[in-house]
This record gives sequence, structure tokens and C-alpha cells, in this order.
Amino acid sequence: MTYEHILVETPADGVGLVQLNQPRAYNALTGPLMDELMTALEVMDGDDTIRCMIITGSKKAFAAGADIKEMAEATTAEMMQKEFIARWERLRDIKKPVIAAVSGYALGGGCELALACDMIIASDTAVFGQPEISLGVIPGAGGTQRLARTVGKALAMEMVLMDRRLSAEEAAQFGLVNHVVPADDLIAEAITMASDIAGRAPVAIRLAKDAVNMALETTLSAGLAYERNHFYTLFATQDQKEGMAAFVAKRKPEWTGK
Ligand code: CAA
Repeated sequence: MTYEHILVETPADGVGLVQLNQPRAYNALTGPLMDELMTALEVMDGDDTIRCMIITGSKKAFAAGADIKEMAEATTAEMMQKEFIARWERLRDIKKPVIAAVSGYALGGGCELALACDMIIASDTAVFGQPEISLGVIPGAGGTQRLARTVGKALAMEMVLMDRRLSAEEAAQFGLVNHVVPADDLIAEAITMASDIAGRAPVAIRLAKDAVNMALETTLSAGLAYERNHFYTLFATQDQKEGMAAFVAKRKPEWTGK
């Protein structure tokens, strides 16, 4: 597979890394870039040798949002007919964990892309914000919904209504990011996190991600039933037998993904 707007590599066993590579406009998320990103993630999702993915940008910018120049003249009909945001939804169908490694600007769609990942590791230079209100619009790729669920209504309102931006430290304080690390260590730390996940029982990881995400979609009762079902299902895997036998024998488990 060859790509024009992203770089794809396998920096460690079981880890796939996608780097957004549009230096021209702080990684503005053009349609073609988003198509390539989603395709790359889907390819890795179907690749048995990859167990966790990382999305990153450049040191200066994870991404400065959707491409303003691409949509500046668009009409409502064109935005709807082009399904401008629909391609972003493909990220929700990725079954393996995806970590956003964010350095510099994560604005508008860039912030939304990071929020749509399963975890965020940020460099101390990261800035998160939803500046769409300053363009006369609102976030369109999940910002209002995921921010309200992540940082709560009060701060989400401030960010969406007043273009309030968060430093990396603030983002960590409000639960938007998992860890903040020095900018020079960002990729290495993200790979360490991804390698940890890649070294665990793959079917359990898949169901764990699915169950946690369900918590954001449903009632507590339905979510608990969903979780319990996944828990029981895992007793049909060899990895459950191996994991528990290894614990009892005081040895390291060897996962097969079966
Ligand atoms: N789309 C298109 N081009 C962009 C861009 C974007 N989102 N962000 C930056 N650029 C371009 C600029 O137009 C500029 O291009 P030229 O060199 O051709 O003039 C170039 O990148 C450098 O930008 P600046 O000169 O503005 O650089 P700066 O260092 O002064 O500021 C910045 C950097 C804070 C990221 C600033 O560029 C900025 O505020 N960008 C826009 C952020 C934004 O509003 N994002 C929301 C987009 S809408 C959206 O994402 C909708 C959605 O929900 C999906």
C-alpha cells in the first residue's frame, strides 16, 4: 500500500504507527488524508501481526483541524452530499486499540481525532482546543459529544463556546489525556504503551476495548450485562486457560490469540 499524506511503519513487534504527514498546513485533515488514515488503520486492524496502533503528527502539530480552505466555500447541500465527516466514523469500527500521540496543536478536528482514539499520550507542548466557534461553526466530528463525556459539561461548554484551549498539563488534570511526557520522548513512550498492549491476550484486549466503549453508549444495566457477556465469552478462549494456568504455575503466560 502506498500513501501520499501519511507515513506508515511498524516500529516494534505488534505495533503499527501512522504519522500524519501534511507539513504544509499543520496537518490539516483534508479528505484525502483522512481517507488514507482510515484505510491504513483498517489494513492494520485486519493484519494479525499488528495488535495496537498509534496515530501521531509532527512535533509542531498533531493536526490543526479539518481543512478550512477545502470547506470554506461549501454549501450545506455539498457538505451533506460529500458526507464530509462520514469517513471519520470509520475509526469507530477499528477493533484494536488506537493510541493518539499528540505533540503541538490538536485543534478542531485534530482534537476530535485524538478524542476518538482509545487513549491519548501528550507531549508537554500539546494544545487541545475546539476553535470552530471562531469560524462561525461548531465541532462536527464528535467534539461536543466526546468532550462533554470526557471533561464534563462545564469545561466542554467553555472550550466549544469560548475557544478555551487546554495545555497538556490541564488536559491531564481534566482527564482528557493519559500521560504527559517531554516532547522528545513522545514517540518512544507511545511505543512502550502500545507494546505493552500488543503483548497481552488479543481477544481479551479486543473485548475489553469494546466493553469500555459501550460504557459511553448505554445505560449502566445494559452495560453491565454487555460486560458480563464478554467476560463469560472469554472462557471459550485458549488464552483464558493459559492465563489462569500460568498464574497458578507462577510462570509468564504465552498468548496465542485463540
Ligand atoms: N485548514 C487549512 N489550512 C490551515 C489550517 C486548517 N485547519 N490550519 C492552518 N492552516 C494553514 C494556514 O492557512 C497557513 O497557510 P498559508 O501558509 O498558506 O498562509 C499555514 O497553515 C500556517 O498557519 P498560520 O500562519 O495560521 O500559523 P500560526 O503558527 O500563526 O498558527 C494555528 C497556527 C494556531 C494552528 C493556526 O493556523 C490556526 O488557528 N489554524 C486553524 C485551527 C482551526 O480553526 N481548526 C478548526 C478547523 S474546522 C474543523 O476542524 C471542523 C471539524 O470539527 C471537523
